[in-house]
Amino acid sequence: MTYKGIMSAWSSKATVRSRPPRQLSWNELSEKWLYSPELVTVLNHPLLSGLERHLRQQILAKSLANHLNFTNHLEHGIVNQVVFKLAHNYVIDLPVEMRQDAYRIYVDEAYHSLLVSDIQIQVENATGIKTSNSPPPFYWDIQKLISEVPNELKEKALLCVAIVSETLISKLFEKIPKDTFVVQGVRDVISDHAFDEAYHHQYFKQIFKFVSPQFTEQEKIDLGCLLPKYIYSFLVPDFGFMHSCLIDIGLTRDRATRVINDSYHPANVARDIRTAAAATLRLFYRHGVFDNDRIAAAFAELELLPELTQTCKTLA
Ligand SMILES: [Fe+2]
Ligand SMILES: [Fe+2]
Repeated sequence: MTYKGIMSAWSSKATVRSRPPRQLSWNELSEKWLYSPELVTVLNHPLLSGLERHLRQQILAKSLANHLNFTNHLEHGIVNQVVFKLAHNYVIDLPVEMRQDAYRIYVDEAYHSLLVSDIQIQVENATGIKTSNSPPPFYWDIQKLISEVPNELKEKALLCVAIVSETLISKLFEKIPKDTFVVQGVRDVISDHAFDEAYHHQYFKQIFKFVSPQFTEQEKIDLGCLLPKYIYSFLVPDFGFMHSCLIDIGLTRDRATRVINDSYHPANVARDIRTAAAATLRLFYRHGVFDNDRIAAAFAELELLPELTQTCKTLA
C-alpha cells in the first residue's frame, strides 16, 4: 500500500501551529449556554421543563466539563500511548511518512489535552462549579478489556482501541461549533479540536487498511470480536454522571432515576451508538470484518449490526 502523507500541511494548518488559545468571555454567560442543550437528553424530560436558568446552565456546564475530562483522558491516556508506539515502530513496521504523521498526531493530542484543561479551568473560574478530573467510566472499561487480552495481543488490541476512537464521529463536534446559543470560546475550542480530528480520522482509516492484512487469521477473529465492546465503551452515555447532575440540582434519587430511565430508552441508546459509529462500522464493513460469523455475532450482541448492512451498502 502506498501512503501519501495525510498531514503534509500540518506545520501551517494544525491548531497547535496556527490558532491562538481560546478565552471564555464572562459577559456572554448571562445569555448564552456553555454547551448545546439539544445534546443533553434529560433536558427534554417533563420533570425538567420548568427548570430555572441557572440550574439549566449548571447541568450544561457539567456536561461540558464531562466532555472535556473524557477528551483529556482519551488523548493523553489512550491515543498518545498508541501513536507513540506507532512513531517508534513498536507495534508494527510502518512506512516512514506514516510514522512522521504519528509524531504529528502525538503533538496534536498533547495540545488538545492542554486546550481542554485550560477551558475547564476557565469554566470553573467563571461558574464556581467544580468538576471531576478522575478518569471517566470509558477509561476503566477500556483498561479492563485490555487487561483481559493475552499479553501477545495487547499492543494490537490497544491499536484497535485507538482506531475505533479516532474514527467515531462525534455529534458534539458537528453541533457545537455551529450553535450560536453557545458561548464563543467553547465553540472555538470544539471547532479547533474537530478540525484536527478530521485529519486523525483519515490517518487511522489508513492505519486500519495498512495493519489489518498483517494480522493472522486468529488475531483478526480475536480482535474483531472485541471491536464492538470498544465502540460501546466509548459511546454508551455516562448514566452515573447524569444521575449525579440531577441530584445536584435538587431531584430526589428516585426522581433522578426516573428521568434517566425515561430519557434513555435502550432502543434509542443503541440507535444513537450506531449513528455515532457509522463511519467506523462502514470502514469495518468495507474491509470484510463482518464476513466472519463470530465477529458478526459479537457486533449483533451489542446491537451494532441491525440496519448495518443496508446502511453500509448505501454509503459505500
Ligand atoms: Fe484530539
Ligand atoms: Fe485525535
